[in-house]
Amino acid sequence: MCGIVGVVGNTNATDILIQGLEKLEYRGYDSAGIFVLGGAESHLVKAVGRIAELSAKTAGVEGATGIGHTRWATHGKPTEDNAHPHRSETGRFVLVHNGVIENYLEIKEEYLAGHHFKGQTDTEIAVHLIGKFAEEDGLSVLEAFKKALHIIRGSYAFALIDSENPDVIYVAKNKSPLLIGLGDGYNMVCSDAMAMIRETNQYMEIHDQELVIVKADSVQVQDYDGNRRERASYTAELDLSDIGKGTYPYYMLKEIDEQPTVMRKLIQAYTDEAGQVVVDPAIIKAVQDADRIYILAAGTSYHAGFASKKMLEELTDTPVELGISSEWGYGMPLLSQKPLFIFISQSGETADSRQVLVKANEMGIPSLTVTNVPGSTLSREANHTMLLHAGPEIAVASTKAYTAQIAALAFLAKAVGEANGNAKAQAFDLVHELSIVAQSIESTLSEKELIDSKVRDLLETTRNAFYIGRGQDYYVAMEASLKLKEISYIQCEGFAAGELKHGTIALIEDGTPVLALLSDSVLANHTRGNIQEVAARGAKVLTIAEENVAKDTDDIVLTTVHPYLSPISMVVPTQLIAYFATLHRGLDVDKPRNLAKSVTVE
Ligand code: F6R
Repeated sequence: MCGIVGVVGNTNATDILIQGLEKLEYRGYDSAGIFVLGGAESHLVKAVGRIAELSAKTAGVEGATGIGHTRWATHGKPTEDNAHPHRSETGRFVLVHNGVIENYLEIKEEYLAGHHFKGQTDTEIAVHLIGKFAEEDGLSVLEAFKKALHIIRGSYAFALIDSENPDVIYVAKNKSPLLIGLGDGYNMVCSDAMAMIRETNQYMEIHDQELVIVKADSVQVQDYDGNRRERASYTAELDLSDIGKGTYPYYMLKEIDEQPTVMRKLIQAYTDEAGQVVVDPAIIKAVQDADRIYILAAGTSYHAGFASKKMLEELTDTPVELGISSEWGYGMPLLSQKPLFIFISQSGETADSRQVLVKANEMGIPSLTVTNVPGSTLSREANHTMLLHAGPEIAVASTKAYTAQIAALAFLAKAVGEANGNAKAQAFDLVHELSIVAQSIESTLSEKELIDSKVRDLLETTRNAFYIGRGQDYYVAMEASLKLKEISYIQCEGFAAGELKHGTIALIEDGTPVLALLSDSVLANHTRGNIQEVAARGAKVLTIAEENVAKDTDDIVLTTVHPYLSPISMVVPTQLIAYFATLHRGLDVDKPRNLAKSVTVE
């Protein structure tokens, strides 16, 4: 989704902005632009498409202060006119923006009669509004910005430059992420620490409805009424090597391969020296105090919630309900007496989930965020956080975050169960079982050639496909089908195997690929019955089975793992299937069309 970078007081501004935007490419975008101020000269450069195209246009663009943006179109098509930065009526003020301004049409009508707009974006209206207050009404820049912020409704992260003053970038935020990066003799602005990690690991958070005056040698935080706020800096635990592809052709493949390491990192993070599971006692108490757990999430994280439900229920003796964040934000169902909301989010920035968290906080409902990004909005605003320790996930298609989410929740379930004296929890040797999962993933990863060869025939040209499974395998089928469709564009559904015959089987015709997941010793035979039903109607079937239920005829066989953890190991071959299918179809694995890594609009 949209990304913001900015720098003040470094003569290398153009390079810093372009390199920052390159680091944000993974988030998904369709156009980009920079504005650079050098002495009396200013340069506004925009391009539709990749950053490489923008970069090619920046020869001779020099200056010490600038802002840049990657745009993921919401209001208006991806054109140069709609790309950010946008300028005010006279061109003096220049603005980049992430988020959605809800009342932009009202603002246009009420304040901006006679103004000329180049594109259709809400952002252009915001910068015209600031320009009007400063240039037509005579307010100082700061007063004009503040006045505009009091009027604008919606989500935003803004970085504003007055081209008559190269010494300052003004920023403000509400709901959309934005950070200040602290350099040596210069300062930066970014929507994601990853953008500026080449320059600094020192950052400062900005809270909602704060305005920050960023100069080369100072950062001043205040609220919209001008009251100063103190803010300490923090060190981002990111490593440049974490965000490189190394020798891998795609981030997705690197991240799939990292999964055994992530499992072992989680063991380290959630055990003590004696190998005992350790989770923050306040989190254990929050679960113990709840009469029902509500898991709120979107997409892959939602699927990780389903995959963890049985384990959480059986080990914590607490019922677990799942909610799609984008639905619950607007219609909260009847809740139990003592709910606990668990937000699962790789990025910690998903606007749909945040919307529910804001409501939960208003209602006084305790909350826990399970996220990969420390300091992210969902982490900051929930009562508790558990981290995934998966390292940055750059590919749009989530892989290692999904498996880490289930593993992190396994530590939670085990810790609560043990504290409650739950017999199943006491018998569940999580550290040992997770080590077996890591080994099982390693052996699947050593079968890449086999998986690749199976996929070529099955998925190279098909228009649609189905994943089927029962029990835990059904939940994996949901995730497997999302993975396949989001990067290969094959229309794919994940189905409860037994439900297929109640309608959807009508779609099976000669050659339709059906991929069946078999891990549960009780349910596998029933799924095999459903495989017969689709095969009899012409489906081309591929089976993925755990050894305990495998037959000689199965295509991909995995080491058996503990049933609570089978969604972790079963998903790995399906990630590789999505990866190879996408390669065979000649598509960009890491940057699927229309998608963004971190979805910061509702
Ligand atoms: C798919 C994928 C998305 C995310 C969803 C929620 O591969 O990554 O479905 O899972 O957008 O994002 P987070 O987990 O960051 O809240």
